[in-house]
Amino acid sequence: MKQLLELSQKEKKLVVGLMSGTSVDGIDAELVEIQGNGINTKIHQVDFVTVPFPPHFKEFVLRNSQVGTSDVADITRLNFLIAQLYTDAVKELCKHAGVELSQIDLIGSHGQTIHHLPENIEMFGKKVSATLQIGDPSVLAKLTEVITIGDFRVGDVALGGQGAPLVPYFDYLLFRSDKVSRALLNIGGIANITYLPKGCKEGDVLAFDTGPGNMLVDQLMKLLYNKDYDEDGETAFSGTVREDLMDYLMEDGFVKSVPPKSTGRERYGKPYIADILEKFRKYDKEDIIATVSEFTAKSVYDNYNRFLFTGSRLSEPAASGGHNGGLDELFVSGGGAHNRYMLTSLQRYFAPAKVGIAESLGISSDAKEAICFAVLANETVSGNSANIPRVTGAQRPTILGKICLP
Ligand SMILES: Nc1ncnc2c1ncn2[C@@H]1O[C@H](COP(=O)(O)OP(=O)(O)O)[C@@H](O)[C@H]1O
Ligand SMILES: [Mg+2]
Repeated sequence: MKQLLELSQKEKKLVVGLMSGTSVDGIDAELVEIQGNGINTKIHQVDFVTVPFPPHFKEFVLRNSQVGTSDVADITRLNFLIAQLYTDAVKELCKHAGVELSQIDLIGSHGQTIHHLPENIEMFGKKVSATLQIGDPSVLAKLTEVITIGDFRVGDVALGGQGAPLVPYFDYLLFRSDKVSRALLNIGGIANITYLPKGCKEGDVLAFDTGPGNMLVDQLMKLLYNKDYDEDGETAFSGTVREDLMDYLMEDGFVKSVPPKSTGRERYGKPYIADILEKFRKYDKEDIIATVSEFTAKSVYDNYNRFLFTGSRLSEPAASGGHNGGLDELFVSGGGAHNRYMLTSLQRYFAPAKVGIAESLGISSDAKEAICFAVLANETVSGNSANIPRVTGAQRPTILGKICLP
């Protein structure tokens, strides 16, 4: 406890942020020096590694993320195994950075989402919404002997929120501007957008999941080409967008649904892909990849148009009034930032707004989410709430995460 108190008083901390997303491609581990907290947070990116998961691990996790194919014994073991893999990733990061593990002040770990069920369902007389991230932070704290914060989403869900997205608070701390209206788009397995109108206050921030990120294209690449993803969007560039398939995809209920909203593999998994292939079998493989890649970009723009372009379409207007609408800059991060096809489509949709990658903001697009969870951990030990109720739909701001002692 003394260690925790001392840590909370420390002005500069060396923090590790760990992220492994719905793509299940690997563990992103960032070493970041954090100074201050809250609105005065300053970060210095020290080092970053992505540690791939072992062979066949992705299939194993995906099987255990789905109703019907999951196994409770596997999930129980995975909860510990993933924490062990995270521990290895922290050690690899330290080695890479030339830093001793004992010099690390704090770890912030997102965990591996295996199920996300933010909708209320009645069970045994109670309304239940839930989310499950595994790779237990207590195991991580014990194995690394570093104070670890994990399970960031649970507290927000307990208070009626979606538990997602959590990146918007981080985006607000680091990327708000008095001069321009900005949006930050992360294209991981799922895509989520944060909108920071010019001169915004925390209560003005809007953000939500827009729908699929790389998840649909990744699954189709696996089935049609036996590849994990469409490298640089090359396959999409070689195909033609098919309008009837596009129209069909644009009917997606989640894309049209009003924020707050968040989604996951439950919605865009195997049955979704099987349906597309069944109905549009007539088209060449590359046309399917092109159309679904185009849909991934278009669904982001459709969300922007519906819910961000005019604040009047939202149930609740911007807290400081009248800021909604207009966009000067959009910055893309996540693995999707490498997909030139998606980036080009976004540039076309969002013109005349400038569309670039997160690097233009001085942050690595691959490391951004890992850095975010380091900063969120720093907020937890500083006693600051980090959910934005307008974004997640929670009843109130709350301190996120579980504090696990070594
Ligand atoms: N060079 C690349 N070209 C196209 N897509 C890429 C490239 N590198 C990574 N990706 C995409 O990014 C995904 C991983 O993105 P990431 O941000 O790690 O997502 P998550 O947070 O869900 O793990 C990969 O599955 C792949 O679809
Ligand atoms: Mg990833």
